[in-house]
Amino acid sequence: MKKIQISPSILSADFSQLGNEVKKLEDAGADMIHVDVMDGHFVPNLTIGPPVIKALRKKCSLKFDVHLMISPVHNYIEAYADAGADIITIHPEATENLEKSIKRIKDLKRKVGVSLNPESKIELITELLDQIDLVLIMSVNPGFGGQKFMPEVLEKIRKLKKIQEEKKLNFDIEIDGGINFDNCKIAIDAGANILVSGTTIFKSNGGDIKKNINLLKLK
Ligand code: DX5
Ligand code: ZN
Repeated sequence: MKKIQISPSILSADFSQLGNEVKKLEDAGADMIHVDVMDGHFVPNLTIGPPVIKALRKKCSLKFDVHLMISPVHNYIEAYADAGADIITIHPEATENLEKSIKRIKDLKRKVGVSLNPESKIELITELLDQIDLVLIMSVNPGFGGQKFMPEVLEKIRKLKKIQEEKKLNFDIEIDGGINFDNCKIAIDAGANILVSGTTIFKSNGGDIKKNINLLKLK
């Protein structure tokens, strides 16, 4: 079984202190930094773009797990690779040609992530799984932190896990949205090995991020 990793979403961090916040996450034992990029078009919210990612990159040595909720995404991939993204995750609905966008990410020597919204079917990516490093299963509709976890997406994780074993593939399975201390175990048991969390990490236990990261890792 893969080691469980925590990818805190800085969407719930103090935006006036982002540099310090990523440093704090590194000191607290986070495994990577989840950056939610939103365009006010693919999702009804706007966040940050390449210049902010580039500036944060210098403040911490963890991998940057960049979740692009922008459309059309294809021509922006390079800017996020240049800004310092290690994993670039895109949504199939945000590109005209998913295979071509996956290839662009690979050509730029970055890890390829593909994300499925709660309504998106696995069939959108089944044929491409051998080219994908990470599947990001959304357990809320993307756009905002602090939403309620949708347990029905766990079935998709179980199916993915089965396909992975049958085809002997090795992609990571990441889950994003509404993850808390009550549902992290069922997500891990279903097959997720990377948990994204914003609200739980930054707001629970008086903002004790180290404690919250460990609790999500079931430690
Ligand atoms: C939602 C984002 C998530 C979100 C997670 O569109 O993709 O990464 O920030 O935040 P919580 O853990 O608060 O649901
Ligand atoms: Zn995200």
